[in-house]
Amino acid sequence: MAIQSKISGTGFYVPEKILTNENLSKMVDTSDEWIFQRVGIKKRHISADNEVTSDLAANAAKAALKNAGISSKDIDLIIVATFTPDKLMPSTATQVQRKINAKKAAAFDISAACSGFVYGLTMADQFIKSGFYQNILVIGSEVLSRFLDWQDRNTCVLFGDGAGAVVLSANHADNGPGIKYATLGADGFVAPEWLEIPAGGSAMPASKESVEQKLHFAAMNGKEIYKFGVQIIPKTINKLLDKNGYTIKDIDLIIPHQANVRIVEAAAKRLGIPKEKFFMNIDKYANTSAATIPIALDEAVQQNKIKKGDKIIFIGFGGGLTWGAVLYEW
Ligand SMILES: CC(C)(COP(=O)(O)OP(=O)(O)OC[C@H]1O[C@@H](n2cnc3c(N)ncnc32)[C@H](O)[C@@H]1OP(=O)(O)O)[C@@H](O)C(=O)NCCC(=O)NCCS
Repeated sequence: MAIQSKISGTGFYVPEKILTNENLSKMVDTSDEWIFQRVGIKKRHISADNEVTSDLAANAAKAALKNAGISSKDIDLIIVATFTPDKLMPSTATQVQRKINAKKAAAFDISAACSGFVYGLTMADQFIKSGFYQNILVIGSEVLSRFLDWQDRNTCVLFGDGAGAVVLSANHADNGPGIKYATLGADGFVAPEWLEIPAGGSAMPASKESVEQKLHFAAMNGKEIYKFGVQIIPKTINKLLDKNGYTIKDIDLIIPHQANVRIVEAAAKRLGIPKEKFFMNIDKYANTSAATIPIALDEAVQQNKIKKGDKIIFIGFGGGLTWGAVLYEW
């Protein structure tokens, strides 16, 4: 009998504090109208001073475990996708392990920027299908607010803090719910400065100059990333459909990375499908990078947008460049 990797629980957590576009317009030269029209965001959540990435991740993980009805003691592996970890070392995943008391779990972080959750889910799928592990927590968690220049309107209006999690469990069955297909991609040949945090790594360790020049904050070429998003979503979805002998009509819901509502609308147009086929919640949370897809998934579940047997696509893209998509049958 085959093994299917089944999502047995979903959950998310966002910090209490809300920063609206109105609030932001008092901090930088921007407006609610500009942000909403260009990106589709109304507000975002910002972590409290004493909250770190592993706190958000642990809260999302607890919600997913509760939803799955699984004890943290039964978790074999914790994967945290993040580019805003608590520290460069140790991994954020080990701190989640401590905070949820998952004693037997192995734990590590992965770095694939906004594609991190799809990368993590695909890795977890391999561990489960090979029989190596039974229950894996895949978490996307970001405290982006600490890596933004709050005087740079090109970036600070776009992002927010949050975490989303799923429990992926072995389901010994030939058919039924589970991950049916996954595809991942990367293009490290393009200019890294399209989307990067220049300093803080071995290429540019922290120095007085790096701090003064604000090189520890996210920097982005918005126009290039926009073009990348608009072409990579349809390209990756079409590849996934071709490989599985499906047309877009066979797909019930697409849960995309929430970077910009206009990117998704343009992608929907290229695919020739109504934009309503994409589940969006960027208006409430902005771009929480690796967390957007699992947050959106949990909301879609809570809003009864997904029913048994539905075919769902998770599609992520981001810095690296990286991208990936997973076909899941609910
Ligand atoms: C960032 C983004 C919304 C900018 O939209 P855009 O249409 O390219 O906007 P531009 O940079 O051309 O700027 C248009 C105008 O708005 C202004 N502007 C830029 N940011 C602004 C802001 N936050 N508030 C108000 N005005 C702003 C610009 O100065 C420019 O003014 P000008 O026409 O007088 O020169 C868009 O490029 C984008 O979404 N890119 C992808 C970002 C992303 O998704 N990143 C993460 C991927 S994982």
